[in-house]
Amino acid sequence: MTETSDRPARAAEPTASAPVLEVRNLSIYFQTMRGEVQAVRESSFTIEAGEAVGMVGESGSGKSVTGLSILRLLPERNSRIEGEVLLNGRDVTKLPEKEMVGVRGREVSMIFQEPMTALDPVFTVGQQISATLRAHHPEIGRKQAKAAAIDLLEDVGIPEPAQRYREYPHRLSGGMRQRAMIAMALICEPQLLVADEPSTALDVTIQAQILELILELSRDRGTAVMLITHDLGVVAETCERVLTMYAGEVVEQCSVDAALLSPRHPYTSGLLRAIPRAEDRHSELYAIPGRVPLLHEMPDGCRFRPRCEYAVDGCEGRQDLVEIGLDRSVRCWRYDQLDLPGAVSAEATAESE
Ligand SMILES: Nc1ncnc2c1ncn2[C@@H]1O[C@H](COP(=O)(O)OP(=O)(O)OP(=O)(O)O)[C@@H](O)[C@H]1O
Ligand SMILES: [Mg+2]
Repeated sequence: MTETSDRPARAAEPTASAPVLEVRNLSIYFQTMRGEVQAVRESSFTIEAGEAVGMVGESGSGKSVTGLSILRLLPERNSRIEGEVLLNGRDVTKLPEKEMVGVRGREVSMIFQEPMTALDPVFTVGQQISATLRAHHPEIGRKQAKAAAIDLLEDVGIPEPAQRYREYPHRLSGGMRQRAMIAMALICEPQLLVADEPSTALDVTIQAQILELILELSRDRGTAVMLITHDLGVVAETCERVLTMYAGEVVEQCSVDAALLSPRHPYTSGLLRAIPRAEDRHSELYAIPGRVPLLHEMPDGCRFRPRCEYAVDGCEGRQDLVEIGLDRSVRCWRYDQLDLPGAVSAEATAESE
């Protein structure tokens, strides 16, 4: 496959070893006032060591709850899950909470859109980072942990890291807080980092810097990244693989290059068409008609059907995620009949070769 962007190549090469994350038939349910609803239905995907995978989809498609389920951070009170979430081969859905504490931070960590979700306002930034390190590595002394935290604060681009180490989170700007949270997530060098819309709350210039920082640091450390975003443009610039989620289901899974060149699901194609492009600045931006269905009014069969311009009689039934090539799968009845518009035309790719 031709490289269609200037994304830097990552150190990770596909390995024969087990993937860092293997999600098998994951379903997530919530108890609500209207009874039990299903937010994610039979989702399956894998993330290999060191790779960056984007998870995209509109609001409500089940991206965050999927991310939270990997760290087992869904509210116990009103949720339940079915299926398996294998982290380094171990099913975290079955681990006792005591063991989960050892997994979070060390095998997998998560960064959120809002850093105060992860940072505690009553401890200094430095205390929190070094405490995280020492919780997983009691053999590391206080001084050593502090030095490691200050080094990492510097790596995440915080000026005067030794002074910032002593600050409380509210004293830092939004961008600096985000950097501190990244440091906290990476201090124990997890194999997988789940980054849930890590930059959308920030202004545009800082957004790009934060994303670049996450990708660069994880590349240096060989950390796999699951980047959750509603913006397929961001995934195209930063990830190798993409998982498209729609209404709680993975509808397409392939390399970013394949998605850009020849999406096989109408929803992926719609998301691509909705990315603003400089050359189209005088024409109206495409938007997928309609909206994501609410959980208690999911259509039977293909969930995208009511919004799909390619739907025909025969699309009513429920389609499985079908493997259609090496590391490529799609959930659409018509995947082999449609020639869907992508972001990059075949001619453009041929010219760039
Ligand atoms: N604790 C909860 N109780 C009940 N329903 C929930 C809960 N958390 C999430 N949901 C529902 O699950 C569905 C998926 O939510 P999720 O937050 O994963 O969406 P998302 O794809 O991350 O959207 P966004 O882009 O807005 O962040 C939504 O319909 C949401 O309302
Ligand atoms: Mg979300």
